[in-house]
Amino acid sequence: MHENEFYDDLAGALEQSWRLLEEAIDDTTSPVRTPVLISVATDGLAQGRTVVLRGINRQQRQLQIYTDVRSAKVAQLRAQPACTLVAYQPNPMMQLRLGSGAIVNHNNAITHQAWAMMPGPNRCNYLTHPDPGSISVQATDGRPAINAESVPTNDENEIAYSHFAVIVFTINQLEWLYLPRRGHRRARFSWNGVDSLKSDWLIP
Ligand SMILES: Cc1cc2nc3c(=O)[nH]c(=O)nc-3n(C[C@H](O)[C@H](O)[C@H](O)COP(=O)(O)O)c2cc1C
Repeated sequence: MHENEFYDDLAGALEQSWRLLEEAIDDTTSPVRTPVLISVATDGLAQGRTVVLRGINRQQRQLQIYTDVRSAKVAQLRAQPACTLVAYQPNPMMQLRLGSGAIVNHNNAITHQAWAMMPGPNRCNYLTHPDPGSISVQATDGRPAINAESVPTNDENEIAYSHFAVIVFTINQLEWLYLPRRGHRRARFSWNGVDSLKSDWLIP
């Protein structure tokens, strides 16, 4: 999109935000593809980490990531589904803050479909033993010795799938920040119901 289409146009800024997210799904070079996911731990402290966007559904305002069900983020999001994803594109400088509610999918139709599409080497990432985040006496990637093709055996595949989770985020607030030299722009889009969108310019 040309800057004129969103610089002073709320609807254009929202459109630009969705396009950034949609393009990031298939573009492995897009920095927007690896946002920081911030959840809240049971001690009340914020916890952030980088994740890869794997899917988007603009109509339902949903994003997807893949993770290990044993990871700390899963327990945190199950206890407190309210979270934020922050994505940053450096050139031109644009930031998206996505206030969301998270649902962890495990061993259901959504994980089944994602697993069917996943290449063997990627499946091996869900074979770590012991659980991700455990202390280890030695430096290790935590996975069993993988064969030359990096394809899990049938037994390994079953174990790996039992660790696989798909987190679906439903965005309820999208904050867009754009920082060109000629003057900054900031806008907030909030959805209360399915279709009730509130759009505001904010002071950057
Ligand atoms: C570039 C990059 C991409 C990553 N993508 C994911 C991802 O899609 N899912 C995931 O669970 N962890 C991903 N990680 C690892 C997380 O940042 C984090 O270290 C790990 O998930 C443990 O987080 P937790 O203990 O808070 O759950 C990625 C890390 C980097 C550096």
